[in-house]
Amino acid sequence: MKFFIDTADADEIRQAADLGLLDGVTTNPTLIKRAGLVREDAIKTICGFVPGPVSAEALGPDADTFISEGLELAKIAKNVVVKLPTNEAGLKACKALSDQGIDVNMTLIFQPVQALLCARAGARFVSPFLGRLDDVCSSGMDLIEELRVIFDNYGFDTEILAASIRSPEHVKQAALRGADVCTIPFGVIKKLLNHPLTDSGIAAFERDAGLH
Ligand code: E4P
Repeated sequence: MKFFIDTADADEIRQAADLGLLDGVTTNPTLIKRAGLVREDAIKTICGFVPGPVSAEALGPDADTFISEGLELAKIAKNVVVKLPTNEAGLKACKALSDQGIDVNMTLIFQPVQALLCARAGARFVSPFLGRLDDVCSSGMDLIEELRVIFDNYGFDTEILAASIRSPEHVKQAALRGADVCTIPFGVIKKLLNHPLTDSGIAAFERDAGLH
């Protein structure tokens, strides 16, 4: 499973990249606002030091606007992925941009047939939102599992990008259910290596080795 970071904060992205496992970045308007940035500046900065896919969200509301915004965003750098909402306008724009060789990430996916349409429209990524489904007492993990079956049934190469991740358990479940990518907030990335028995074990070995 590939690891993306879900943030627009360049400092967080650099720290995650230092781990040596960062495959890409996802942003959205909320994350860019939280970082106090302007979308184009944020995407240009991130693409300056991240070689993998960097999702930048286009703003509509209609298909023509999504397409023209997507074309502009794609000019910022070769690794920009245009993020579009999963509605009728977004789907039309996905087809138009994908047909022109521009990578698209279809976002805000909450049920499998939405993702099936996006795959048919040529999306490189589909983003099911796990945490937001869990918030309304629905199973985000079942959605990943169903998407895996559907995409494998038809040989789609569209990647399942597990989003709205809130905990290490979400990351584990996404991996178990066969997500291709998991986009993870910085706070959760920092928790992925944690276990109290690892910490106490390291402390005991260091003590017995006479290190302290
Ligand atoms: C990523 O592509 C999504 O925009 C993000 O994971 C949404 O996460 P949230 O539900 O925590 O806002």
